[in-house]
Amino acid sequence: MADLIYLDNGATTRVDERVAEAAMEAMLVAWGNPSSAHNLGAEAARRVQRAREQVAAAVAGEASEITFTSGGTEANALALLGLARLKHVVVSAFEHPSVADAARALIERGVEVTTVAPSSSGVVSPEAFAAAVRPDTALVACMWVQNEIGTVQPVEAVARAVKLKAPRCHVHVDAVQAVGKLVVDVGAAPFDSLAISGHKIHAPKGVGALWLRRGARLKALVFGGGQERGLRPGTEGVPGIVALGLAAELAVAARAEAAPRMTVQRERLWTAIVAAVPSARRNGEPATTAPHILSVGFGGVPAEPLLHALEAAGVYVSAGSACHARDKKPSATLRAIGVPDDMGTIRLSLSRHTTDDEIARAAEAVIACVRELS
Ligand SMILES: Cc1ncc(COP(=O)(O)O)c(C=O)c1O
Repeated sequence: MADLIYLDNGATTRVDERVAEAAMEAMLVAWGNPSSAHNLGAEAARRVQRAREQVAAAVAGEASEITFTSGGTEANALALLGLARLKHVVVSAFEHPSVADAARALIERGVEVTTVAPSSSGVVSPEAFAAAVRPDTALVACMWVQNEIGTVQPVEAVARAVKLKAPRCHVHVDAVQAVGKLVVDVGAAPFDSLAISGHKIHAPKGVGALWLRRGARLKALVFGGGQERGLRPGTEGVPGIVALGLAAELAVAARAEAAPRMTVQRERLWTAIVAAVPSARRNGEPATTAPHILSVGFGGVPAEPLLHALEAAGVYVSAGSACHARDKKPSATLRAIGVPDDMGTIRLSLSRHTTDDEIARAAEAVIACVRELS
């Protein structure tokens, strides 16, 4: 495994050693229940509070606005399913399944859902969201960075356009792929909630957070001991929470240096691939794509065999997106932007640890495997 080139950071990231150590310390030292009245409990509660402050700082919010969850999926579920008295909801047509399927569940409950289609370059327009919003629209959800193709959505303009038409409408943003790659500032626009996931930013899997603007109200989806102000009861997963806090702090601290470097690496990867395989098609425009994601299609080369040929060459990528890896259904995202089903599409996703040498070797491997399979 020493030589493997991991370009599947959109699926998950390797845990940062400092983060793993912090989680281990929380497990072995601060192992009390944060709700306990004694010292050991207070020690655990202090770590949770510190992590709350770190996560809040990562999105420029307040600690009291952070609710820890089991991941991005649950943070999205809280926002979509936790609002009372929904009649009409608007979502983009290429949300992550944790939002798209939650919207489907709302339809089964009698809620009307309007979807907003992206352009062929993978970006939604604020005007289209505004046009879809009605006076009785109570929720709008738009992701910040599209996980399969990496395109950055104009969420700030979407939030403003929505609030102009429906000031009381709750605006939820899935920021799972944005934290650590873009500046995420909850004060920059009238957002109401934001989903964050640990394992996309070098924390372990199974922890995430919902930022919920002070004053915004959601109902809990589970019931219990009142933890997380009753919004997400259950004894806090202290090691994961501690890990998320540190990972968020490290990701945001590294962003200014890492994001431009990943952008340069991503462009180098694309330039090398398209120079050798001129029929390669890139999804999304470079100027509106997050630093860490390159989505490329090769006509006549199916994605799965390409992925496995690359794996044999030591390069790990996704076919479209990991969420679809097991069900072989065509990707709804690629369809939404008009990519034909027979276009084999792979997603190469970088992290702040990706090196220039890995990029050069990955480009060579992609070129060789595509030539072999064409
Ligand atoms: C955009 C987006 N939202 C939500 C999720 C789900 O997050 P988690 O795996 O932490 O539940 C993912 C993970 O792939 C994602 O990419």
